[in-house]
Formats: sequence, structure tokens, C-alpha cells
Amino acid sequence: MNTTQRAVLIRSYGGASAAEVGRIERPEARQGQVLVGVRAAGVNGIDWKVREGYVRDAFPLQVPAVLGIELAGVVEAVGPGASRFRVGDRVMGSLGGLGAYTDFVTVDEANLSRTPDGLDDVQAAAIPVAAVSAWQSLYHAGPVRSGQRILIHGAAGGLGGYAVQYAKRAGAEVFATAATAHVEYVRSLGADHVIDYQTQRFEDIARDIELVLDYVGGEVLDRSWQVLTQTGAVVGTSSPDILARTPAGRRGLWFMNRPDAGLLEKLAADIANGTLKFRVSEVVGFEDIPAAIERNRTDSRTGKVVADFSY
Ligand SMILES: NC(=O)c1ccc[n+]([C@@H]2O[C@H](COP(=O)([O-])OP(=O)(O)OC[C@H]3O[C@@H](n4cnc5c(N)ncnc54)[C@H](OP(=O)(O)O)[C@@H]3O)[C@@H](O)[C@H]2O)c1
Repeated sequence: MNTTQRAVLIRSYGGASAAEVGRIERPEARQGQVLVGVRAAGVNGIDWKVREGYVRDAFPLQVPAVLGIELAGVVEAVGPGASRFRVGDRVMGSLGGLGAYTDFVTVDEANLSRTPDGLDDVQAAAIPVAAVSAWQSLYHAGPVRSGQRILIHGAAGGLGGYAVQYAKRAGAEVFATAATAHVEYVRSLGADHVIDYQTQRFEDIARDIELVLDYVGGEVLDRSWQVLTQTGAVVGTSSPDILARTPAGRRGLWFMNRPDAGLLEKLAADIANGTLKFRVSEVVGFEDIPAAIERNRTDSRTGKVVADFSY
């Protein structure tokens, strides 16, 4: 029997060519784990950041390391002490670590949710990290109240699309930044004020903001302090040095997502029944994952890129 399997891995940190398709040994489910036959995996911005060593402090690696942080698939085996799932169950989730870009992966069963019937595996693989991170980051600085003025940077992206909808559900007044080509898309998600950052300065339009969700980082973060109220906060997902960049007297918070299978199950149900919108912008085959990781660094798009493992 062939016990090796395809995997997208890095052997050292580097540019586009550092991620390659190779082969690794098939793992076995240990205590509290299930073995998942991966059918699809979401491509995320963190993939190229891990590849380049940009986040090596947060994600210290032993190489070779398999990339990929979220998946959808089928339970192939159940390890000792694991009881939530049976062989054949359709599951989705984020790993809380790396290793999704391979045919079979062991996952702590606590990190997995059942895939709703209304979603196929490619759709399901697009959801875990973005939908849960957007929710957790929206509430990271505290409760959101009706009428609260929130500015969302990167609203056309994977996290941003969900955050706009969650903030509107909570009754907030939503300001959102997007490229010219994505203004209509972000408006269709319900944002009250869509700022085209290619022709407008957000500082001129968004004022007295109580919460900035910064899904872009860098100079966008540095320019955001001036739009805050005295008690306002910036929650950042993209510049890990946000604390060092927070001016005196301001409130800047670094956000780090964590798997939450219960929350994911609720959000996935909302997507399956059509009350929460999401978008898969591109589907690639397994061999194309390294190139898709690099395009995620260089290109601009709405929604998520997903790898379909069936081709
Ligand atoms: N810390 C954590 O736990 C965590 C978890 C998940 C993700 N993240 C990070 O959070 C960020 C967002 O993730 P994602 O998956 O949503 O990424 P994404 O899908 O690539 O979305 C980012 C969006 O930012 C927009 N953008 C680029 N430059 C901009 C600018 N100057 N102003 C406003 N928008 C701009 C792009 O849309 P346009 O085409 O409209 O420009 C793009 O769609 C990434 O940096 C990711 O690594 C962190």
C-alpha cells in the first residue's frame, strides 16, 4: 500500500519557489484526533507570510513543513479518545496551526465542525479562518453596540466581507475601504459608506470612529489613529508590531485568531441558508497551490481562493 501522499511544503524560508509539491508519510490519528481525507483547502495570506519567514516568531517551524491552515473533507479514521465524529462524516475547520495542504491530515477533533448539507467541500474550505477571524476580531476590543461607528480596512477581502456583515447585524454604522473595482461589491454587503482608497483618503471621510478593524496593516494602520475618538481602538490582524506602532494615549490591539468549532458551525449554517454572504473568487487544483499562494501576495481580489484536491 502507498503510504505517502501529496503535500505542499517548504524546506526553507524563501520566495515563490520555496513552496513546492512533494510527498510525505501519511499520519495516524492520535489521542483526541481524527484523520481527515482533505477534499479542499482555503488559500490564505498567512501562507506566503509563513513561506517567507515573515511570521517565524508566531509560527516557529521545523522544516520540511506542510503549509495550509484550513480545510474541508471527510473523516477517514478516529483516534483513541475521540468521540465527536464517525468515519464518513463531512467536516470543516481551521487547524490552529499548519498542515492542511496534504491528502490526509490529523486534526484535534475539537477544532472541527460538521459541514452543512447545503455546502460543497470547496465552499466549506473557504469559510473557517475568514468567517471566525472576522467575528473574533470584531468583538476583540469589547461589545459592539447599535450606532457604533466602525471603519473596516480591506473590506473586499476574506475577513472584511464577513466583518462588514457582522457589524451591520450588530447595528453599527459601517465605513469600509476598498479598491475602485470592489466598491460595488462592498456596498452590496451592506456597508453604509464605502471609501475608494484609490481616489479618496479615508481620513477625510471617516471621523469619530470608535473601532477600526485593520485587515491591511502598514501605512494604513499608521494613518488610522487620527480617525479615532478618544476612547476608540484599532484592532489589527496584519501588522504584528501594532503595539510598538501605537501612539501614546491610543488603544491598539493585536488580534490572533483561534479555532472555535461551535462558532464556525453557526456561521457555516448562516452561509448555507443564505443569511450570510460569502464569495469564492478562484478555485485551483492541487499542483497550482504554490502559485496561488504567491498570487495571494501580489494580486487583489474579492473573497477567497480555494484549492480543490480532486484535480
Ligand atoms: N492575526 C490573525 O489571526 C489573522 C487571521 C486571518 C487573517 N489575518 C491577516 O489579515 C489580513 C486580511 O486577511 P484576508 O484573508 O481577508 O486577506 P485578503 O483576502 O487578501 O484581503 C485583504 C484585502 O485588503 C484589500 N486592500 C489592499 N490594500 C488596501 C488598502 N490600502 N486599503 C484598503 N484595503 C486594501 C484588498 O482588497 P482591494 O482589492 O479592495 O484592495 C484585499 O481584498 C491578512 O494580512 C491576513 O494575513 C490575520
